[in-house]
Amino acid sequence: MLEAGDPEGAGLFFPSNSNWEPLRDDPLMIRIALVPGDGVGPEVVREAERVLESCVRAGLVEIHTEVFPHGADHYLSTGETLSEESFARLRDGFDAILLGAVGDPRVPDGRHARDILLGLRFRLDLYINFRPARLRLAELSPLRSADHTPIDFVIFRENTEGLYTGAGRIEAAGTPAERAVSEAIATRPGVDRIVRAAFEHARSDGRSKVTLGDKANAVPHVYGLWRRVFAEVASEYEDIEAETMYVDALAMQLVRAPGRFEVIVTSNLLGDILSDLAAELVGGMGLAPSANLNPGVHALYEPVHGSAPDIVGTGAANPMAAILSTALLLRDEGSSEAADRVEEAVDEALRAGIRTPDVGGTRTTDEVGAWIAHRVEAG
Ligand code: NAD
Ligand code: IPM
Ligand code: MN
Repeated sequence: MLEAGDPEGAGLFFPSNSNWEPLRDDPLMIRIALVPGDGVGPEVVREAERVLESCVRAGLVEIHTEVFPHGADHYLSTGETLSEESFARLRDGFDAILLGAVGDPRVPDGRHARDILLGLRFRLDLYINFRPARLRLAELSPLRSADHTPIDFVIFRENTEGLYTGAGRIEAAGTPAERAVSEAIATRPGVDRIVRAAFEHARSDGRSKVTLGDKANAVPHVYGLWRRVFAEVASEYEDIEAETMYVDALAMQLVRAPGRFEVIVTSNLLGDILSDLAAELVGGMGLAPSANLNPGVHALYEPVHGSAPDIVGTGAANPMAAILSTALLLRDEGSSEAADRVEEAVDEALRAGIRTPDVGGTRTTDEVGAWIAHRVEAG
């Protein structure tokens, strides 16, 4: 299709004697599926939505949103976790998905959460779980040492293999000889693409080092493959330092010297654990955003935290992780101005003490969201 700015198109659609002038570039239209989910999920997604509305009012983007009801309430009342129809619409009808959290004590086996969250990660082949950890304000670090700033690294967690595929079995169920097997799967293409994504990110983001976190000493099949593929891919990136570290030592170093890390690449379960630790180093779960990506194909954004049943309904949930996840979404969708505006507003809120209790404040979810939304709109 010819665009208004296209010189050939201009001749066709806007005759040369026309005094037509664009008032402003059309803001980008982004179609977002909202899956608020369970517990504090709906509380924090509401605030993220508010911030998106501010971006629209500020003329930075156009947003189309649609809410999907999937979560524990929907499961308990209909028996449906994620319907095929909803899955197909989430796959085909949107530029991005924004999810709150799934998990509810009324569904102890977490069946719906696996179908919804892991279902979307696996079925949309969202192989990158991108989890940045940046200390936005020095006083938010729980570390005593003075040399902990700047903490600014990203975790590339493999998101479609490892111990999360569900492969395994129970043998001799219910007998004294019962045996449970969960298989960890690593494939060469699966490891190659996440390691490559980490190195590509390092290069494009001006980072100088990628660290592999593994357990090749104790789990030789899976992590032997990780080490070999890591070395092969690393040899293609001579400008980036490649480091390998056993994950137990890596966890120790994260606490001792977090500033030494730039990009960490690791497997699914190890990345899950390390990303909660990383979040805690920079102020806690209330501040940690994430993106689940199959670049250029599908994307799902969500706070790293869960449904936090211990604080649901109290107004104590920090909406910043969901709001920062929205900033990741806006940036990936091409609206870096809106993304910058949202991130700056979060930083200002933190500096101004507009904080929920988890980050040392007395404000509620709603107050923090409203303040950030107002700052975004004010510009
Ligand atoms: P959690 O992340 O929900 O909570 C851990 C701790 O962090 C709790 O003390 C909680 O109050 C606190 N916390 C979490 N989010 C917060 C926020 N926004 N503001 C302030 N404090 C916050 O982890 P959990 O308790 O292990 O899990 C609860 C449920 O959530 C489980 O069903 C679990 O499976 C699920 N879960 C879902 C996701 C997800 O949907 N992505 C992630 C993790 C856990
Ligand atoms: C996360 C969560 C999920 C995971 C759970 C809810 C399955 O902890 O997104 O970090 O383990 O990936
Ligand atoms: Mn987790």
